Amino acid sequence: MAFLKPKQAPVPQVDFERLPRHVAIIMDGNGRWAKKRGLPRTAGHAAGAETFRTIATYCKDIGLEYLTVYAFSTENWKRPAEEVSAIMGLLKKYLLEAIGRMERDRVKMKFFGDLTPLPRELRELCERTEEIAKHYDGVQVNICLNYGGRDEIIRACKAFAAACAAGETAPGFLDEAAFGQYLFSAGVPDPDLIIRPSGEVRISNFLLWQSAYAEFYFTDVLWPDFSKDELHRALAAYQSRSRRFGGV
Ligand code: FPP
Repeated sequence: MAFLKPKQAPVPQVDFERLPRHVAIIMDGNGRWAKKRGLPRTAGHAAGAETFRTIATYCKDIGLEYLTVYAFSTENWKRPAEEVSAIMGLLKKYLLEAIGRMERDRVKMKFFGDLTPLPRELRELCERTEEIAKHYDGVQVNICLNYGGRDEIIRACKAFAAACAAGETAPGFLDEAAFGQYLFSAGVPDPDLIIRPSGEVRISNFLLWQSAYAEFYFTDVLWPDFSKDELHRALAAYQSRSRRFGGV
């Protein structure tokens, strides 16, 4: 019958003693969520920002160490100016609230991406948030903002080349661990689990270096509808996998 919700897979048990250390999420499907309701795309982003708040807080509650979310890619500047400005506005609103609540919420933020082209007020807010977050523990939430995996790798290559030119290091010292120190994610373990909602099955320039051995979880649920139950499904799927890292 039309008014019945579509059947959802049952919510499996999660072993909270065996959680991944680091979960990363491509928060996709905001536009389609809004379209289905006859709303502007910006309403989808506003709903997506609420989902982000709920999921980030829940990740802290269950004791996850790192959560990384894709909020705005290096390619997202191609979107209409009103949409870009609405996303920036939502980020600003979220950060202003988060700064005030960091002591209570223990959700500490860091940013991956080049913040230089962002509106000055937002950039300064990001810097202030990171500075304050240094004093808190709790889940570390990395917000990818003006972020692209290829851009990150090129920046790391340039930084390494510059360090070589300055005589601080030499090509012979470069290995995977050393290269990782030049990435935005320096000091953060690679994601164990990458979740992409909305039915799209691609990586879209997200954490290209860091995703080498990540487990993936795809779902048709649109990001604004993503719930704790859906996170449980993703975590249970992760726990059912056998990770071999190229071994046997
Ligand atoms: C992808 O969905 C979503 C984005 C490009 C923006 C994500 C931004 C937010 C969730 C709001 C601000 C974030 C924080 C951290 C407060 P889409 O627009 O590509 O959806 P579609 O594929 O259905 O069009």
